[in-house]
Amino acid sequence: MLSNSVFNPMSPQAQAISNLTIFLMLLGLLISVGIVGVMIYALIRFRARPGQEGEPPQTFGITRLEIAWTATPFVLVTLLFFVTVSAMQHSSPGQISLNDGARTEPRITIIGHQWWWEIRYPSGVVTANVLHLPVGQRWVAAIKSVDVIHSFWEPQLGPKIQAVPGQTNYIWLEADRPGVYHGSCGEFCGAGHAWMLVDVVAEPMAKFKAWEQQQMTSSLGSPPAGFTASEATQGAALFGQYSCGSCHFTNIGPLLTHVSSRSILAGGAISNTPAHMEQWLLNPDAIKPGVHMPNFQLSELQARDLTAYLESASAPQSASHSVASHWLVWNAKSQTATLTLVAGYNSALSGFNFDGYGKGGMVISVPVGAHVTVVFTNKASLPHSAVFTAYRNVQAASGGFAPAFQGAASPNPVSGTTPGQKQQFTFVATKAGKYALVCAVPGHVQAGMWDVFMVTKSGAPSVKVGKASM
Ligand code: CUA
Repeated sequence: MLSNSVFNPMSPQAQAISNLTIFLMLLGLLISVGIVGVMIYALIRFRARPGQEGEPPQTFGITRLEIAWTATPFVLVTLLFFVTVSAMQHSSPGQISLNDGARTEPRITIIGHQWWWEIRYPSGVVTANVLHLPVGQRWVAAIKSVDVIHSFWEPQLGPKIQAVPGQTNYIWLEADRPGVYHGSCGEFCGAGHAWMLVDVVAEPMAKFKAWEQQQMTSSLGSPPAGFTASEATQGAALFGQYSCGSCHFTNIGPLLTHVSSRSILAGGAISNTPAHMEQWLLNPDAIKPGVHMPNFQLSELQARDLTAYLESASAPQSASHSVASHWLVWNAKSQTATLTLVAGYNSALSGFNFDGYGKGGMVISVPVGAHVTVVFTNKASLPHSAVFTAYRNVQAASGGFAPAFQGAASPNPVSGTTPGQKQQFTFVATKAGKYALVCAVPGHVQAGMWDVFMVTKSGAPSVKVGKASM
């Protein structure tokens, strides 16, 4: 009963809170015992005895006693003030700025939604409800909300902290020992409040890194046991047909990429198994009353196909999150951007792409004057190239993709880079405007191998994906 409570702290922050709680309880107990003890003593010692007549002798004022009962609470309250302030200092960084350069802790963002938690990592990984954390490392967590007031509470790891719309609160997030720590939303936030759980998975750094790497991979894995690849393909089509992405790639619902790697579904209402996923898809409200996910009146066959797809490793293949820190490394001082471009082919969705995105589904932005180094790797089985060219209806153009900036193309763009090869080229984005990133190997643009390149007048560079995935 106490294993998942403040009495079993797993971080220095939670330890400080636990110590304070225990200290207060013991002090309270001591005072209660003292007061009740003196009362019982007085009741017995000064009770009415047979033969006693009239009022007992009256005493008016004992200075020593009055000083004692004034001074004692004063000393106690002063003591409580200092131990509480100390616990607050140990358990929370207070109001801080995430842009404070002096801070070296990795930063995570936790966003409350009705009724689930969105979790964003500095690496660009976005997940929901199951938070992975390396053991023994202190993170700064920015706590936000997009709708109503929620409260993020991991009793074994730290203080309860409110998630307030329009305001960011901060806590330290840290776990001393590997394990799964169960948390929840600590403030009533509507019908689904009870199913707004959050699990923290604390694991050794190597395991955490492996998890993070796995979350970044974008090749569709095999379907779960008992399901076939063709069911998964059917499911992928249904996912598009029902426009699941219009919520799940826009942060209205949890991002479902790699949902199969999570332990819980529906904010913790059910564990994540293919059978539960099917039940959930057939009637979400029966599992989580009040949930915003509609009942699509799917047939059992459709629910099964969708389950095959969703429970395939790393499905589904699209995201609306910014992946800047993953694919685009920016050095503000020297104004240099290093862009990782991978030419690929997604067999599940039949399309050529850059970094998994084609048909304009990825938008890369850099400020004007940026020196862009492109590290281009061809991981597909056909030759591909990368050319930054004038923006137009590239899918209708028949070749003639001249670089928009000097050197803004991989070598031999028409014949392409051979499969497995890595090539590097550098150019300066000299003029603001909208450009296209294309593969100049004949026919490949028609097959969807193009994305958008923006040169902005100012501002930070970014990579945004999500519109159309290949
Ligand atoms: Cu969110 Cu209660």
